[in-house]
Amino acid sequence: MPAAEIVISDMTGPDVARVIEIEKLSFTHKWSLNDFTSEVLNPDSICKMACLGDGRAIAIGYICVRMMVDEAHILRLAVHPAFRQRRVGSLLVKYIKDEVLRDFKGKIILEVRMSNMAAIRLYDSLGFKNLYIRRHYYAGPEEDAIVMAFDLDNRGWPIGESFQSCPSEHRCL
Ligand SMILES: CC(C)(COP(=O)(O)OP(=O)(O)OC[C@H]1O[C@@H](n2cnc3c(N)ncnc32)[C@H](O)[C@@H]1OP(=O)(O)O)[C@@H](O)C(=O)NCCC(=O)NCCS
Repeated sequence: MPAAEIVISDMTGPDVARVIEIEKLSFTHKWSLNDFTSEVLNPDSICKMACLGDGRAIAIGYICVRMMVDEAHILRLAVHPAFRQRRVGSLLVKYIKDEVLRDFKGKIILEVRMSNMAAIRLYDSLGFKNLYIRRHYYAGPEEDAIVMAFDLDNRGWPIGESFQSCPSEHRCL
């Protein structure tokens, strides 16, 4: 799928219904229509959607980021199952990191389920590092979270630690 076919734009209220369809296919603990609507309306949030073609006819992925002083917190990232492993997720994260937050000073931070190797590898491949384990962070099913971060000040970390070497419950960096 050529990158030119994918258009990233602001998620707006009317888009939420389409985003919800991807959400249902992507998470066990799902955001509701109200969750997305309030995020889209929140002035501290950045919600972007990836669509096929200029007409934005087919929504294939989205990302929601909440700005908190010196942190940009990725709250949601998902790609429609039919379009996974074609770099759409990477494109959305890179767009936030390199375009939207180009001049932002601080860190991008996120939580990810320990078992979610697809997401962990994606963030890893973009230079995110694991910070620490947050025990019992997720419900339905219960699971620990890895907290990962990307330092926008340094555009990466001076000394990297690989995911495998992170000792549980201790900070790696
Ligand atoms: C996680 C998710 C967003 C990845 O989106 P994607 O568009 O498929 O990812 P990409 O194609 O950009 O993959 C980038 C890298 O991630 C890794 N990756 C992606 N999917 C993978 C999979 N199923 N298994 C193993 N590695 C995977 C690969 O290292 C890949 O690099 P490569 O193409 O060079 O091998 C997608 O699987 C998804 O929507 N999952 C459900 C929701 C979710 O878990 N969101 C993240 C919450 S933190």
